[in-house]
Amino acid sequence: MLEDKYRDMERIRKRWEEHAKRYDEWYETFEGAVEHHVDWELLKGNLPQNRDAKILDAAGGTGRITLPLAKMGYSVTLCDISPGMLSVARKKLLREGVLDKVEILECDVCQLRFADESFDFVLCWDSGIEAAEELIRVTKKGGKISVFLINKCGAAISKFREDPDSALTLLRSESNYVYHHEEKQMAVSVEEATELFEKEGIKVIEIYAVCGMLEPLSIPEKVQESRHWDEKLFRQVTEMLLRLSKEPSVKGLSRHLVLYGERI
Ligand SMILES: C[S@@+](CC[C@H](N)C(=O)[O-])C[C@H]1O[C@@H](n2cnc3c(N)ncnc32)[C@H](O)[C@@H]1O
Repeated sequence: MLEDKYRDMERIRKRWEEHAKRYDEWYETFEGAVEHHVDWELLKGNLPQNRDAKILDAAGGTGRITLPLAKMGYSVTLCDISPGMLSVARKKLLREGVLDKVEILECDVCQLRFADESFDFVLCWDSGIEAAEELIRVTKKGGKISVFLINKCGAAISKFREDPDSALTLLRSESNYVYHHEEKQMAVSVEEATELFEKEGIKVIEIYAVCGMLEPLSIPEKVQESRHWDEKLFRQVTEMLLRLSKEPSVKGLSRHLVLYGERI
């Protein structure tokens, strides 16, 4: 069992090592810039008021979120299993003059090397559900947590064309797992995520629908992939997605959910 877990981790690490130099490029496309804007707007409203707050960006990769947080003055700890992703982050932080605001560590989110209640805010925008217990352990009581989750309905919808049996297995709750790039990931509904985190001592503030919402808007692929766009369209699309992210009737459609909660 442990050996399987170790092998899986190695495969995940290898995949991100190969991806590290290109990861940020996707955020230069219309689709990536829209998703980043939506992620950031939702996060901004939940950040600690006090700029001395300590923030953990777990599985933080190339520092997409660490960088703007450090620029705002927060002290950030960035951790990830991929040295390549962290190396890209280090260069960006150095270039932007905020490397001194950030501690960078190579570590697994499921085995964090921090004392209980070390951080005022903990975000984990990958593998969050597997690491839930650890993430909550290092969050101060009264502090907040933000976790990306695989959305069960969204995963079933996107899986259906390639593998209808797996899609239906998910929706029937016969399994809660999906495979993405050979990685086994747990998928949950809004209700399951709420129950799971509340059982662990988190008061759920909100669960938003994020990622993969451009398809229902029928934004042409050419526009999604383009690196130059009409600013008015960008504003309209991001406003649509921000409004839809909070709309219970469409939450099933997104690829990911992002949960915000408070440790009680
Ligand atoms: C999709 S990227 C997200 C990076 C960043 N959170 C963001 O939103 O831009 C996923 C990251 O999670 C990291 N990762 C995956 N499993 C991990 C684990 N068990 N512990 C630490 N990092 C992990 C990968 O190395 C990769 O950098």
